[in-house]
Amino acid sequence: MPKQIHLAAHFPGVNNTTVWSDPASGSHIEFDSFREFAQVAERGKLDFIFLAEGLRLREQNDRIYDLDVVGRPDTFTVLAALAAVTDRIGLTGTINSTFNEPYEVARQFASLDHLSGGRAAWNVVTSWDAFTGENFRRGGFLAQGDRYDRARSFLQTATELFDSWRGDEVVADKDSGTFLADPHPGAFAHRDRFFDIAGQFDVPRSPQGRPVIFQAGDSDEGRDFAAASADAIFSRHSTLEAGQAFYADVKGRLPKFGRSRDELLILPAATFVLGDTEDEAAELAQEVRLAQVSPATAIKFLEQLWNRDLSDHDPDGPLPSVDPVVGENTIARGRASVRMHRDPVATAAEWRAKAEAEGLTTRELIVEVTGRQSFIGTPQTVADTIDRYVQADASDGFILVPHLTPGGMAPFVDRVVPLLQERGVFRADYEGTTLRDHLGLPLRHTDGASAAAS
Ligand SMILES: Cc1cc2nc3c(=O)[nH]c(=O)nc-3n(C[C@H](O)[C@H](O)[C@H](O)COP(=O)(O)O)c2cc1C
Repeated sequence: MPKQIHLAAHFPGVNNTTVWSDPASGSHIEFDSFREFAQVAERGKLDFIFLAEGLRLREQNDRIYDLDVVGRPDTFTVLAALAAVTDRIGLTGTINSTFNEPYEVARQFASLDHLSGGRAAWNVVTSWDAFTGENFRRGGFLAQGDRYDRARSFLQTATELFDSWRGDEVVADKDSGTFLADPHPGAFAHRDRFFDIAGQFDVPRSPQGRPVIFQAGDSDEGRDFAAASADAIFSRHSTLEAGQAFYADVKGRLPKFGRSRDELLILPAATFVLGDTEDEAAELAQEVRLAQVSPATAIKFLEQLWNRDLSDHDPDGPLPSVDPVVGENTIARGRASVRMHRDPVATAAEWRAKAEAEGLTTRELIVEVTGRQSFIGTPQTVADTIDRYVQADASDGFILVPHLTPGGMAPFVDRVVPLLQERGVFRADYEGTTLRDHLGLPLRHTDGASAAAS
C-alpha cells in the first residue's frame, strides 16, 4: 500500500514568497481573502489551512520593512471566523509559548476546537528574538536557552488543562435539574519554575480532546521537543535529500520518547509553479522569482548576509567585494532567516564564487540562492514528484505556500489534486470530521496514552 499524502495550504503573508504586487493578488487582511483561500483548499479536500505568526513588524536599516506584505490579523480571530464558513478542513494556528500564558491559550484552542467541530491545531513555536519581546513590555524576556524549557512546561500545562475534563461531566438532565455529574470538573494544579497555577478550567472537553500539536523548531532541542510531544512538524526541508535526512533524524528520535514512527507527521513547506508544458512552467517560475526578488529586495537580502548598509550597491552589478560584518545581526530585526547565516564570510565567499562561475549579477545570484520553488512543471510531473518524495520518506506530505493570495491554491487544487486522487494516494473525500481523522492521528487520553476514543 502506498503512503497516503497529507496536503495543507499556508495562507501566505509577510515574506517575499507572496507577490502582493501581482494584479491578481488581493487583500491579506480582509476576511474575503481568508474565506476564499480556505474554501478553495477545502474544495481540494486538503487536510488543513495554516497560519504563521509574527508578533512584531520587521525592520531593516531602522525602518519598517515594507517590500513584503506588512501586518496580519490575529490568528484566533481569523480561524474562528473561518470555522463558520468551512465544514471539514483543519484550522492550524501558530501561537508562541514565550509571550503567552497556558490558561488563555488552552482556553482559546479548546474553544476553537468546539466551534469548529474538532478541527483545531496549534503550532507551538518559541519565537527567538528580544526584539519581538519588546512588544510584550518585558524587554528581551526569556533568554534563548530558556525558551524550550518554557515551551515544554507550557505545552505540558496546556495539556493538563485540555485533559482536565474527561468528557462525561455535563449531563444537563432537564428532568432532575442536574447540569453536572461531577461537582469539580476541570480541576487542575500545576507548579514549576514557569507556571504556578491552580483552579478549574472553564472549557469542557472539546471534540478532539486536545488540538493537534504542531512544532516548527529546527534545532536539536526543537527536534527533540517535537519528537517528545508533537503530532506533526512544519519543516523547511522540502528537497528530496534534505527531506530524507530530516525525516530519518526526527523519526529516529521517537523511540527515545516511547513513541512509534506513525505518531509524528513531517510536513515541509513547499511552493509550486504549474504550466501546460515543462518549458512554460520553467518560464513562469522564472517570472515569479523575478517578481519575488525585485532589485530592491535583492539589496535587502544582500544586507541581511553582509550585516551592513548596502543601499548604494548596484543590483545589476557584481557582489560587494567587502566582507560581511560578523557578529550580532543589527541590520535586519525580527527576521528569523538571518540566524541561518552561521558563517557569513564563508557564505559570501561561496556566493561570489558562484556568481563569478555562472556570470551572475547580484540580483540574479540572490534569485538563485534564495530560491523557494519546490515543484515546477506540468500538473502530471508535479503530482509524480510529490508522490515520489512522500513514498521515499522525504516527508509525509507538504504544506503548500502559493505565491498569490487569495487565489493561488486554485490551480493546484483543480489540476494536481485530481491526479493524486486517481493514483489512490490522496483522499477522494473527507472520511472523518476532525483534523485528527484527516491526519490519521488517534485521540489522546488524559494519561497521555493514545486511544481510539476518549
Ligand atoms: C518552517 C518553520 C516555520 C516557522 N514559522 C514560525 C512562525 O510562523 N512564527 C514564529 O514565531 N516562529 C516560527 N518558526 C520559528 C520556530 O518555531 C522556532 O521558534 C525557532 O526556529 C527557534 O527554534 P529553533 O532554534 O529550534 O529553530 C518557524 C520555524 C520553521 C523551521
